[in-house]
Amino acid sequence: MGCESSSVKPAFLLLLCFLLGTASAQLSSTFYSTSCPSALSTIKCGVSSAVSKEARMGASLLRLHFHDCFVNGCDASVLLDDTANFTGEKTAGPNNNSLRGFEVIDTIKSQLESACPGVVSCADLLTVAARDSVVALGGPSWTVPLGRRDSTTASLSAANSNIPAPTSSLSGLITNFSNKGFTAKEMVALSGSHTIGQARCTSFRNHLYNESNINATFATSLKANCPSSGGDNNLSALDTTSPTSFDNAYFKNLQIQKGLLHSDQELFNGGSTDAQVNTYSSNSATFMTDFANAMVKMGNLNLLTGSSGQIRKNCRKAN
Ligand code: HEM
Repeated sequence: MGCESSSVKPAFLLLLCFLLGTASAQLSSTFYSTSCPSALSTIKCGVSSAVSKEARMGASLLRLHFHDCFVNGCDASVLLDDTANFTGEKTAGPNNNSLRGFEVIDTIKSQLESACPGVVSCADLLTVAARDSVVALGGPSWTVPLGRRDSTTASLSAANSNIPAPTSSLSGLITNFSNKGFTAKEMVALSGSHTIGQARCTSFRNHLYNESNINATFATSLKANCPSSGGDNNLSALDTTSPTSFDNAYFKNLQIQKGLLHSDQELFNGGSTDAQVNTYSSNSATFMTDFANAMVKMGNLNLLTGSSGQIRKNCRKAN
C-alpha cells in the first residue's frame, strides 16, 4: 500500500492520495505512540483520579466534549477563556454556571506538558477524557482516533445557537443533530449520556410544574428540591435510579415518564423515537455499541488537523 508501488499508474495514485488526504480527517489511534507514549495513560489516570474523588466529574467531562464538538467542531474552543479580542463560549446560555471540569483538564494538560511539551492537543485530551469518563462509570470503551489540533478562537454566538436547549421538541432535537450529520437514532443513543450527571432546577422547572407527561410521584419528589420560584441552581440527577452508573436506566426511566428534562421525555412521548427508546431499554448491549459508535462520529466533527490550528500549551488560551 502506498504511493511507491509501481504497478499502478502514477496519475491514479496521485488522485488516490488526494482523495485519502482530503476525504479522511487524517486521524490515527497511534498518533502519539512515538511523540508521547505516556499520553493515553496520563489522561486515563487523571480522569480516574478525578472521578474517584467525585463521580459526577465523569458526566461533566463527557458534556464538555459534546459542547466542544457541537460548536465549530472538536477544537477545544470551549476551554478558551475570554480575551480582549473575543468573548469565549463559557458564558453562552447553555454553558454559563453549568459547564464544569475545566480544572481537571488543566491538571491533566500540565502533566502532559511536563512529559511531552507542545505535543498533545487540548482537543484530543478532551476527546479521550470523555471516553475514559464513560469507562470509569461502567460504560463502553472505544478506540479514539487522534490528531486533532486546537483552535485559536471561540464563538459565543455559535455556542448559543448550536447547543440544543432542554425546551426542545422532538423535531427540534432531530433537526439540531441532523445539522451535525447525525440520524435520529444516533441522537437517541447520544442522549443516553443523561444516564449520568445532574441538572439544575432552572433546566427542568417548566417540565416539572407545567407539563403532564411526568410521573406524579417523581414530580412530587423533585419539587422538594426545585421550588416553583427560587433555587435555580439546585441539582437533581438526570437518571433518578443510577446517576453515577453508565447504564441504560435512562431509557427505562423515559418509558415510565421519569425523564428529568422536557427534551429527555420528548424521546418517548408517542413520537417517532419511542421504538428506539424501547430497544435501548430492553437491550443494554445495543445501546452501548450504538453509543460508542456515535461518540467516535461526534469526536470527528469539523476537525483541525495537519498544520491547521495549534497545540495549545495552556488549554485556556491560544499560544
Ligand atoms: C439531546 C439534546 C441534549 C440536550 C437538550 C441537553 C441538555 C442538557 C441540560 C439542560 C443539562 C443540565 C445542565 C444544567 O442544568 O446545568 C445537561 C446535562 C448533561 N448533558 Fe446533555 N443535553 C443533550 C445531549 C447531550 C449529549 C449528546 C451529551 C453527551 C454526548 C450530553 C451530556 C450531558 C451530561 C453528561 C450532563 C450532566 C453534566 C454534569 O453533571 O455536569 N448531553 N444536558
